[in-house]
Amino acid sequence: MSYDRVRGMYDILPDEIPWWRLAEEAVREIARRCHYHEVRFPVVEPTELFSRGIGESTDVVTKEMYTFPDRKGRSLTLRPEGTASVARLYLTHGLAAKAPFQKLFYLGPMFRYEKPQKGRNRQFHQYGIEVLGVLDPVVDAEVIGFAWSLMEHLGLGGLRLRLNSIGCSEDRATYREILREFFAPSADRMCADCRRRLLENPLRILDCKEEICQPLIAGAPGSMDSLCPECAGHFAAVRQWLDRLGLRYDIDPRLVRGLDYYTRTVFELVSSDLGAQDTLLGGGRYDDLIEMLGGPPTPGIGFAGGFERLVLALQERGCKPPIERLDLYLVPFGDEGRRAGLALAGTLRKRGVSVDLDVRGRSLRKQLEAANEMNARHVLVLGDEEARTGRGKVKEMDTGVERESSLDVDALITVLGG
Ligand code: HAM
Repeated sequence: MSYDRVRGMYDILPDEIPWWRLAEEAVREIARRCHYHEVRFPVVEPTELFSRGIGESTDVVTKEMYTFPDRKGRSLTLRPEGTASVARLYLTHGLAAKAPFQKLFYLGPMFRYEKPQKGRNRQFHQYGIEVLGVLDPVVDAEVIGFAWSLMEHLGLGGLRLRLNSIGCSEDRATYREILREFFAPSADRMCADCRRRLLENPLRILDCKEEICQPLIAGAPGSMDSLCPECAGHFAAVRQWLDRLGLRYDIDPRLVRGLDYYTRTVFELVSSDLGAQDTLLGGGRYDDLIEMLGGPPTPGIGFAGGFERLVLALQERGCKPPIERLDLYLVPFGDEGRRAGLALAGTLRKRGVSVDLDVRGRSLRKQLEAANEMNARHVLVLGDEEARTGRGKVKEMDTGVERESSLDVDALITVLGG
C-alpha cells in the first residue's frame, strides 16, 4: 500500500525552504521594526467562532471549512484564517480590560476546501497582523504601511494596492439593497451561486470569479455612494494619511472582500506576476467583530497574506535567497581518522561551525564527490596519518587553495575564516 498527499496539501522540500525562510524572516523583521508581538493560537477552534465571525453566507463558511465532530460530538473546525482566532484570544485572555490596545502578528497553516490551483491550496500558510482597540484612521495607514514595508524589504515590484470603504453595518445594509435592486433583473444571467447570494447577501456577488457574472459586476454601483458622513470622513482621513506617507493606492469602488466581518476600510495588494490567484494579501477593518463574539465594542484592523503566493512572486521576480553553505565537510578514513573525525566534528559544532561527515564508510573518492555536490566551503581529509600528527590540509572549494593547519579547534576556525 502506498500513501499519497491529501489533494491541495503540499510538502515543502529542502530546496524550496530558502524562499520560505526569506519570506518568514522578512515578516518577523518588519513586525520587530513596527513593534508587533507574535501570538500563536490553536489550529482547531469551535466551529461557531468561524461561522459567526466570518459570516454564514461567505464561501469560506458555506463550502470551504474542514469541520468535524470531536469524540464528544462537539463541532470543531480547522482554522480557515486567523482574525477570528485573534479576536477570540483577545476575549479569552481578558485583554479588553487589561491591555485593550494590541499590535499582534501570527504565522501558520490555514485550511480551506477550495479547488486547488497555482497559488490556491487546501492547506496554505498565512502571515497576518491585527491591531485591536483603535479606531483612528492613522492606524489604517500604519497597517497598509506595514504591507508596503514588507514588500519593499523583499524587493518585490509589480504591485498594486486596491483600496475601498464599505462603511459601517448600516451603510452595508443600504449598499446590499442597492446591489439587490441592481442585480435582481439580471438574475437569470448569473451563476447558480450568485442567484443564491442575491437572496442571502448580494455583497458576495462582487467576489464572484465566474466568467458569466463578470460583465454584470463590472457595471455594479460602488460602495462609496452608500457611506454615512462619519464613514466617508474616516475614509477621507485614511486617504489623506496614505498620501502624506507616500503610500500608493488605487480606489476600487467594488472591492468588498469575501468575509462578512469587514467594516469601513478594505484593501488588497495584487501582484502582476501571479496569474489568476494574484492577491498577495488582503485585509481591512472589522470594528464589530469583537462585540459580535460577545466582547465590548472594540475596533480592529489587519491583513493577512499567503506565503505560497509570496514565495511564487519572489521566484517569478528571479529573487535568489541566500543559500546556507556547509562550513566544512570532513572526509575521514581509516579507524583512527574516523575516531578523530567524529570528535572534531562534535567540538567544531559546539563552536558554531557547520560540519558534516560521512557516516556510511564510503570510499575516499565517493566522499570527495559528496563534498562537491553539497557545495561545502571547505574540505578536510582526515586519515590515520592526520589523526596521528594532529595536522591536515583544509581545501577551500571555491578557489581550490589548500592550507596546512593544526587540527586544534582554534587554529581550524581561523583557517575556516571564522
Ligand atoms: P483572505 O483574503 O481570505 O483574508 O486571505 C488573505 C490571503 O491569504 C489571501 O490574499 C491569499 O494571499 C492567502 N490565501 C487565502 N486563501 C488561500 C488559499 N486557499 N491558498 C493560498 N493562499 C490563500 C483573510 O484571511 C483575513 N483573515 C485577512 C485579515 C486579517 N483581515 C483582517 N485581518
